[in-house]
Amino acid sequence: MRHERQVELLERIAAAGPNLAGLHGTHSLINDAAVYTDEARFQREMTVLFRGWPVLFALSCELREPGDYRASTIAHVPIVVIRQPDGTVRALVNTCRHRGAPLVDDGLGNARSSLSCPYHAWTYGLDGTLRARPGSAGGFEDVTAGCDLVTIPVAERYGLIFVRPGGGAPIDIDAHLAGAQDDLGSYGLDGYVHVETRTNTWPFNWKLVLDTFCESYHVRTLHKATLAATFDSNAELFEPFGPHMVGIGLRKDTVEQTALPRKEWSLLSRGTVQYFLVPGALVVHQIDHVEVWRLRPIDVRTTETVVSVFAPTEPHSDNSRKYFVKNLELLLAVTSNEDFVMMTKIQQHLDGGLVPNVVYGRNEAPLVHLHESINQALAVAIPTP
Ligand code: FES
Ligand SMILES: [Fe+2]
Repeated sequence: MRHERQVELLERIAAAGPNLAGLHGTHSLINDAAVYTDEARFQREMTVLFRGWPVLFALSCELREPGDYRASTIAHVPIVVIRQPDGTVRALVNTCRHRGAPLVDDGLGNARSSLSCPYHAWTYGLDGTLRARPGSAGGFEDVTAGCDLVTIPVAERYGLIFVRPGGGAPIDIDAHLAGAQDDLGSYGLDGYVHVETRTNTWPFNWKLVLDTFCESYHVRTLHKATLAATFDSNAELFEPFGPHMVGIGLRKDTVEQTALPRKEWSLLSRGTVQYFLVPGALVVHQIDHVEVWRLRPIDVRTTETVVSVFAPTEPHSDNSRKYFVKNLELLLAVTSNEDFVMMTKIQQHLDGGLVPNVVYGRNEAPLVHLHESINQALAVAIPTP
């Protein structure tokens, strides 16, 4: 993020007044508790958002070499994105055209020069074209069409790779990011290095994962033994980009530095800069590394989180690698032991069905924007570019 942009954001903190009340949003929002519990609502979210919208699927740096792939299933669509020999990426439905077997297991891997089905060994090029049906002794000679892997739209820019899991129109990343690309592009994410990924499954709705990061109001209470000494609990600095947004968790020294001359101001070295990319991704610039959360809703009250840490350059030693892994583990420890314990209880309590709604305050502006974006997207149901 350019220094002028950091100063511009910090000016808002300097002008925010006592308890950062000047950072508050314009209005609070009362949201139906059923958005976290209702099965039909969940199915609509999957159809409109997780199949219809561009979903952040991989970082370019995870797929550097030809044949490098990442596979995962989003809203029941098994997807594998593969780096091609010409440097582009393709997104294929990870399902063999013979009888539907998966071609690769979920996760990161390298397919060398082809994909071979583990069931009867049909073989495909990296672009998904059928190459061979070995051992069939001409048994499929009369099947000449419909044998290539199904492709879905994929686009890559700013070190980010998006897919549209349900198929449909090509993805226009700039139009989709709605301005967030000016910040995201400034980090040079394509030069980062993947260090570690951890996957966990949680017993609550996918939106509760995002809610955790959408306000700082809980820091002084829920995190009183961990984060409260470092972070300010009054407000997050927030800016919308279309349906997406940046929410900046403020350390106490982020706020205090506004008493210094402007040339000494720095947001990146003192703040947790979180880009929420609706529907299910969070890209976090965390002082000296980047964390990425990719959410995989399983059902209305089950969510898988795939959390990765990326370093700005290849860690130069084992110790340097361990430093980034330790950061990831600290993040996961606080979220698992504190935030997600609470989210599990919230899900159970909302499932009780007698509490009709929840309230997001003006001091929780990112929460208001996130849920207004989602509610509006479902009401309108138009795919983003
Ligand atoms: S299902 Fe893939 S080769 Fe038979
Ligand atoms: Fe938290």
